[in-house]
Amino acid sequence: MTTADLILRQAQLIDGTGAPLFIGDLAISDDRITGMGDLRDWRADQEIDARGLALAPGFIDSHCHDDLALLQTPLLEPKISQGVTTVVNGNCGFSLAPHPANRGPLPQPLASLVPDPSLMFFDFAAYFRRLSEEPPSVNSMCLCGHTTLRHAVMDRFDRAATRAEIKAMRNFLDTALTQGAAGMSTGLYYPPASAAPTEEVIEIGGVLQDHRALYVTHMRNEADGVVASVEETLRIGRETGVPAIVSHHKCMNPQNHGKSVVTLGIIDAALAAGQDVGLDAYPYIAGSTFLFPERVDQAARVIVTWSKAMPEMGARDLSEIAADLGLSLRDAAERLLPAGAVYFQMDEGDLRRILAHSLTMIGSDGLVADPHPHPRAWGTFPRVLGHYARDEGLFSLEEAVHRMTGLTAKRFGLSERGTLQVGAFADLVLFNPATIQDTASFEEPKRPAAGIHGVWCNGRLTWDGRAATGDRPGRVLTRSS
Ligand code: ZN
Ligand code: CU
Repeated sequence: MTTADLILRQAQLIDGTGAPLFIGDLAISDDRITGMGDLRDWRADQEIDARGLALAPGFIDSHCHDDLALLQTPLLEPKISQGVTTVVNGNCGFSLAPHPANRGPLPQPLASLVPDPSLMFFDFAAYFRRLSEEPPSVNSMCLCGHTTLRHAVMDRFDRAATRAEIKAMRNFLDTALTQGAAGMSTGLYYPPASAAPTEEVIEIGGVLQDHRALYVTHMRNEADGVVASVEETLRIGRETGVPAIVSHHKCMNPQNHGKSVVTLGIIDAALAAGQDVGLDAYPYIAGSTFLFPERVDQAARVIVTWSKAMPEMGARDLSEIAADLGLSLRDAAERLLPAGAVYFQMDEGDLRRILAHSLTMIGSDGLVADPHPHPRAWGTFPRVLGHYARDEGLFSLEEAVHRMTGLTAKRFGLSERGTLQVGAFADLVLFNPATIQDTASFEEPKRPAAGIHGVWCNGRLTWDGRAATGDRPGRVLTRSS
């Protein structure tokens, strides 16, 4: 008789490859899956009757800003309560390393994300060491941010980098990749990086290929310039010779609604020509980032998520705040800075088209430290599984799971995670496919999802269906290559 630490019996096994689910048992011992299928001859210390429930690989959140949260709120309830077992950090150009000594103050908006430069790390080795010493509840990977690289070598950000600065950034990136960073991210939309020409990114990114690393981008423009930005992204991917990933793909503002037909068409043409391209998205028609006064007139609705200047205005609609203050939307926004906001700027048709693209990974882009966050921080994965897959039939449950597990694992080089198979790490989520649902709303964004029954990371229970267990088994992951 074979034994195991834990056997989940008669679950609907969704293996993460997109293949149809099948009923079976799954055994784990220590941190690995040790058996799968008909295990009636096996015995375990603990057995769970999983009839009527689905068992899937733990979800991999492909686009995160949990760099600091992993250390400051290491249980990361917003993520584990959704079934997440791995997060990919360092997105949109922002990472906590490299941060050499004696640099000037952090530029906005980086300073809003990292309140104190002493929270940054000299290099990725130091960051990863801290994460190993004080582990969080989830596994993590990290990209090296281009904006962070700029801050490491440049004294001002309103211009292109010089030859010498580019060389220095290449060296920093090379070291970061050697130490385990998964690639480079850019945030070309944001002021500290928006002055960087395409060539600067290509030249720094020249070291990615040797490490088989990724180029991941919050594009220069997701509104009127979205088509040109996709073309720029593809050019950077071609000229650096690495996969190019479009982060949180969207087409903002009414005049650009429907343009996902064009952007996805360009991506498909590149794929057909043999280029390696990917994308991620979150399942909401509202986005969230810093409050930019020049953006507020174009949005159907703006909710303030936090404000340094007027903290009491957090969680309120900007239109109400403006009315109270007797100011225009734009002037009211100026008063609140620095601040964060949720913007309703997208089209449901574009969102569905993007989510349905076969290469779209699910990434929350959640800002878990915001006092009144966008609900994607707590609801992304259950919303895709419940609302979009089950209720709206956008794709099958198996396909939905694939976009948050196997597809993402493959993209990030995680060969032993993201699928249910004997020998793989036991990152698992047990959920009820009939009841899984996001409950976090724009009004009440900090609510755990319904229908998640258990979450295991490296074989250890992190979420018991109601609360965090307190266990923190998360490991630092690197591209296995
Ligand atoms: Zn972004
Ligand atoms: Cu982001």
